[in-house]
Formats: sequence, structure tokens, C-alpha cells
Amino acid sequence: MKIFLIGFMGSGKTHWGKLLAGKLSLDFFDLDTVITEKENKTISEIFSEFGEEYFRYKEKDLLEELVDGHESFVLSSGGGTPCFFNNIDFMKKSGRVVWLNTSVDTLKRRLLKERSSRPLIRNISEAELRAYIIRKLGERKMYYEQADVIVDEENTQLQALIELLLKDE
Ligand code: S3P
Repeated sequence: MKIFLIGFMGSGKTHWGKLLAGKLSLDFFDLDTVITEKENKTISEIFSEFGEEYFRYKEKDLLEELVDGHESFVLSSGGGTPCFFNNIDFMKKSGRVVWLNTSVDTLKRRLLKERSSRPLIRNISEAELRAYIIRKLGERKMYYEQADVIVDEENTQLQALIELLLKDE
């Protein structure tokens, strides 16, 4: 079984991906981490030295490599992964795609603290961040909405249920 978590930057893909993989006893991959390990550079360095287009090709190639090389896993994609090339169709053909849908206010709160590590928002001021998220999310929604499952990431009942299940381990 291959599970792909998609969603905007700050939607909790890595957090929930690790929990889910642990619960299901599956391998966990974070696509950004796989890229940084392969390139031996941070995502910011890859963007600034080689540009976004290079990053998008790497992202696509490594996504395909992971899918071809493994039977099962939980994979947290990058926020842009489903929006480039045929990545969303490829993920849907290869397994189950889950969109973590998170509100703009929560995304803004989380991203404010982590702007420096994300090249797309590192130069965006606090005042502009909300408008940026709304615009970018608007552009990307048509890809995210193609997920097989859409989860309200801030649903506290869902979070409580997961925590309860994990406690029983
Ligand atoms: C990006 C999201 C980032 C990373 C890169 C580009 C995007 O991943 O892949 O900075 O286009 O939204 P996270 O969603 O894990 O922050």
C-alpha cells in the first residue's frame, strides 16, 4: 500500500505522515528530505543555486524512484509536488492520495515561524503572508482536490482519535 500525503506548506504532512506510517508499520519518506539527502543541499540552496525548475525535475524523478523502488510506504510530498508535471495522476495511479486541508489562518500561524527554510515564502512579509497563502492555495486547489481522500486537518475529533489509537500501542 502506498499512501501519499499532499497539501500546502505547513499543513502537517510530515507530522501526520510519521504518525500514520508508525501506526500502519509502513516505511515513511518525506520527499523534501529525500531530495536534500540526494543533493546534499538544503531546499533553499537548491532553489537559489539551480532554480525552481531544477528542483521540480528532481522532485518528479525522486517521486518516481521511490514509487518504483518500494512496495509500500507513507510519503509526505512537498506542497507543490501534485501541481507539477503529471505528478498527481502518477500518485493516484500508484496508491492512495490524501489531502490535508488546513485553514489559511492555521497555515499562516505555522508558516510565520518557518519562513526562512522555505524559499517560496522567505521574502514575504508577515503582512503579505495571508494574501500569498490565499492566492497560492487558490491556484493549487484544483490539484489538491483530486486527492482520493480529503481530511480536515484541524478536526480535533480526528486528532483525538489518532492520539487514542497511538496510546494503545
Ligand atoms: C514547496 C513546498 C516545500 C518544498 C519547497 C516548495 C511548495 O515543501 O517542497 O519549498 O512549492 O509548496 P513543504 O510543503 O514540505 O514545506
